[in-house]
Amino acid sequence: MSQTITITRPDDWHLHLRDDEMLRAVLPETARHFGRAIIMPNLVPPVVTANDAAAYRARIMDALPIGDDFQPLMTLYLTDKTNAVDVAAAYAEGLITAVKLYPAGATTNSDSGVTDIKHVMPVLEEMAAIGCPLCIHGEVTGADIDIFDRESVFIDTVLDPLRRALPELKIISEHITTKTAADYVMAADKNLAATITTHHLIINRNHILVGGIKPHYYCLPIAKREHHRIALRKAATSGDARFFLGTDSAPHTDPNKESACGCAGVFSATNTMSCLAHVFEEDGALDKLEGFASLNGPAYYGLQPNRAKLMLVKSSTPVEYPVSIETRDGPVTVFDPGYPLFWRVV
Ligand code: NCD
Ligand code: ZN
Repeated sequence: MSQTITITRPDDWHLHLRDDEMLRAVLPETARHFGRAIIMPNLVPPVVTANDAAAYRARIMDALPIGDDFQPLMTLYLTDKTNAVDVAAAYAEGLITAVKLYPAGATTNSDSGVTDIKHVMPVLEEMAAIGCPLCIHGEVTGADIDIFDRESVFIDTVLDPLRRALPELKIISEHITTKTAADYVMAADKNLAATITTHHLIINRNHILVGGIKPHYYCLPIAKREHHRIALRKAATSGDARFFLGTDSAPHTDPNKESACGCAGVFSATNTMSCLAHVFEEDGALDKLEGFASLNGPAYYGLQPNRAKLMLVKSSTPVEYPVSIETRDGPVTVFDPGYPLFWRVV
């Protein structure tokens, strides 16, 4: 007999949809399974003002398959020059759900990011006052800091001082990759939660580097040692409501990944729910999947869970997924967990 689980329709609390042809190609991959997603603003040029967010939202809605009720939750890209009044107005009218902090130069398309947190304190103070959440790419960028240490150094030198200075600011530490970050979130008394990606629950740094370099596993923050991956699995499957899904599904075409200087980003929208069901079942925590993927995120953001449901069925034969999806810009490789998946969304 086949096994089935039915959960509240999930949301993705960290997603890259890009624009134009890429947007049209990748949006259905997310909308097929997810009710809502926090849309990353790192376009070129980035989504900086309320007007930018309104225009981007309209382009996303235009790219949605007809009849689909997927809801994009927009964010603004924080820069040294962001205007607190513009942010407050966009939040008050429901146009944006959060603001995103990229340290300048931390990752793909982050050149306009914040050069020093001091420059954005007036905006952050306003956000704390009105309850607007801050999503953080938590990595320092100093050339002297080892890429595998960038997340933990960020916690010590930026995140912890910021939380002490502004305890009322609601923060999401995004795509955490270390035990250090998971422990830090668990120790927080309030106003701190974390998203975890699908791929960081599955790969460690050996998957990227052993037996030949695997560009499709290269993302930022970079996957760390195995004991960190295990700590992320524990956090995700623990039922602790401060941890929830943000896939960080980040499409780049194969030529841009398979290059002498390849882009960072893993595209996992297509098979994320199958991967997660596998992971949670493996850890004896299928009953915690709904919390992680569908309930903890909305609760932290102060939103209702989706009303619709999602059903997954486990079959005896592996689920077939495309190796890549076609876009007008070229193929985009789908995340390969490295083992067959048996849970299928129906
Ligand atoms: C993201 C992208 O491609 O936009 N890449 C990634 O490796 N995660 C940017 C980001 O979220 O860091
Ligand atoms: Zn991202």
